Amino acid sequence: MENFTFHNPTRIHFGRGQIAQLAQEIPADARTLLLAGGGSIKANGVHAQVLKALGARSVTEFWGVEANPDFDTLMRAVELCRREKLDWILAVGGGSVLDGAKFVAAAVPFAGDPWDFVVKRGAGIKSALPLGAVLTLPATGSEANCFSVISRRALKEKLAFGHPSVFPRFSVLDPETTFSLPPRQIANGIGDAFCHVLEQYLTYPADAAVQDRFAEGVLRTLVEVAPKTMAAPTDYAARANFVWAATCALNGWISPGVPQDWATHTIGHELTALHGIDHARSLAIVLPSLLHLQRVTKREKLLQFAERVWDVRDGSADARIDTAIAKTRAFYESLGIRTHLADYQVDAAVTAPEVARRLTARGVTAIGERGDLTPARIEQILRAAA
Ligand code: NZQ
Ligand code: ZN
Repeated sequence: MENFTFHNPTRIHFGRGQIAQLAQEIPADARTLLLAGGGSIKANGVHAQVLKALGARSVTEFWGVEANPDFDTLMRAVELCRREKLDWILAVGGGSVLDGAKFVAAAVPFAGDPWDFVVKRGAGIKSALPLGAVLTLPATGSEANCFSVISRRALKEKLAFGHPSVFPRFSVLDPETTFSLPPRQIANGIGDAFCHVLEQYLTYPADAAVQDRFAEGVLRTLVEVAPKTMAAPTDYAARANFVWAATCALNGWISPGVPQDWATHTIGHELTALHGIDHARSLAIVLPSLLHLQRVTKREKLLQFAERVWDVRDGSADARIDTAIAKTRAFYESLGIRTHLADYQVDAAVTAPEVARRLTARGVTAIGERGDLTPARIEQILRAAA
């Protein structure tokens, strides 16, 4: 295991009725920006619960943060904060609203063009406004990490940044707030969380027993709970387990001291930027094809994954790896998430070289846990995902 520093300051309030905790979390004299998406929180009563908990506090609302939050939209929220001298941010919604809130929190005090710190992955950020979250979509782990993914449609870009100052001070996770999610978003959430674990687990052995067992526990929980929570969206027990699994998939507990991949995400972001494919679906297209191409360098962990997550113990090592990859693809398909570019009317022969060209232009020369995925190999992965 490599040396590591572990730091996660986010307080979690988990369970029914926990939105009431806002009354303790947000200072009485805070001037709060309430950031929201397109209206789901009005329809499901979450907005009313939030306002009740905030009581007499000063609250200014900003609506319209879209899925894959857009820089231009968020800059209007930044201007609102500056104009009204708002000093606290409360995100109420899914990962896009939370990521948007992190951007706004860092952008308000930033001197210069905030797009710079996005391009530089968070470098240059010195401080951020305090922020908290009420999460209504289990998927991204944004509620308990310091990452944010910002799209800029005008430039056809989608880039991730991270900085310790944008950890939420707290996050409220009430599984009941997620009962209103449509099947497509539940599937997306399961698929995204599953991939988050694999990006930190399916690399090469690092003699990290706890991290491995923890990762396998989250993966097996997702596989078990997925059909239940898809079939019975208001089953509290199933949903609560899914919500916590999604948080644990990307809150930092799996990654200390182990190699990480993140190539599926980097390539997936390009597919979303170019074709508007939902984040989780972009991952489902890339992942099986990437695992197949990287089966030699990932061999030991693929065999461990086959045995400990999918209970595959028989046959040759190559056959077990094939089965594990096939089961992973089948898991996504069982959620209703298609796994080929053609399913999204995307022509691999055009998109594969385009993604390679874009990554090259951005100076991305080699990614993955061993730094061996060059743009040429990424093109190969996407051609194989046709
Ligand atoms: O906009 P509203 O009306 O709120 O509707 C949203 C949106 O249309 C809806 N929704 C959310 N909660 C709901 C609900 N509908 C009914 N009931 C509820 N309780 O769901 C739609 C999708 O929401 P969005 O926030 O976009 O989804 P998700 O949470 O999957 O977030 C995706 C974004 O997060 C980024 C992705 O790239 C993408 O931009 N990611 C962020 C990460 C992070 N911060 O660590 C890591 C991830 O890998 C990911 O890249
Ligand atoms: Zn993701």
